[in-house]
Amino acid sequence: MAYNLLKGKRGIITGALDENSIAWKVAEKAHEEGATFVLTNAPIAMRMGEIKVLAEKTGSEIIPADATNVDDLTNLFTKSQEVLGGKIDFVLHSIGMSVNIRKKIPYTESNYDYFMKGIDVSAMSLHKMLSVARKLDAINEWGSVVALTYMAAQRTYPFYTDMADIKAMLESIARSFGYHYGVEKKVRINTVSQSPTKTTAGSGIKGFGDFFDFANAIAPLGNADAESCANYCVTLFSDLTKMVTMQNLFHDGGYSSTGISMDVMERLGVEEQS
Ligand code: NAI
Repeated sequence: MAYNLLKGKRGIITGALDENSIAWKVAEKAHEEGATFVLTNAPIAMRMGEIKVLAEKTGSEIIPADATNVDDLTNLFTKSQEVLGGKIDFVLHSIGMSVNIRKKIPYTESNYDYFMKGIDVSAMSLHKMLSVARKLDAINEWGSVVALTYMAAQRTYPFYTDMADIKAMLESIARSFGYHYGVEKKVRINTVSQSPTKTTAGSGIKGFGDFFDFANAIAPLGNADAESCANYCVTLFSDLTKMVTMQNLFHDGGYSSTGISMDVMERLGVEEQS
């Protein structure tokens, strides 16, 4: 059911690689809620071509941009305003990539060139986007920027390796830039800390399947899926959450507040005491 929450709003959605991508679901929901937006991804991801299906379905234009490249981002924000006919109201940062994870390099042996690449793609790209948008004055007052993150920024998950540190940086950028952009233009910046989700980026992590099941058994509501994450992002883009900024918001079915569940205790063979 749609509520027209984003009627008349203009956005930029990054990171829709295929129909499993969280960004793909956000685009579908934002479209249902009345928004118009531009889709963007790294030029290399475009070659797979699936994004065109989403563009057709949502009546969107695609503007390629490598999120590490300031010129690409300047073009993205400039052209998006032309295409959409005005300033931007919402931005989704849904970009993550670690070469150390891809190459299965243990955290303690991280390759620093790969580490730097991961920082640039997955965290600094948010700073670059915001800096470009601010310089161009491309985001409307009360506009909303959401970046997706994971709880490894607060607690250690050994298999998440350098992405844990990178997500901590991403969340910090959201707070730091959120202060400045908030004071100057009332632009809101938040991170959504999402449950493990079966996507290309998620499934690339070693042991992801087992961990997905473990998180699902801990969370009282079970893991939050990509579609419910998209619904949450839509509320954050809407005017109903106008005073929410500089927050890291857990969207995880209660996982982050649960120490252990009876389900997991039983699997470990521990009997309930009363
Ligand atoms: P995905 O693989 O579908 O999306 C990642 C996107 O980043 C892809 O579209 C990819 O093309 C894009 N990207 C990579 N390098 C880029 C660059 N240089 N410039 C522009 N775009 C680039 O996977 P998913 O899971 O939808 O990831 C989206 C976000 O959600 C990421 O930030 C990820 O860390 C985060 N997240 C994912 C979770 C999961 O379990 N899947 C859990 C919590 C957060």
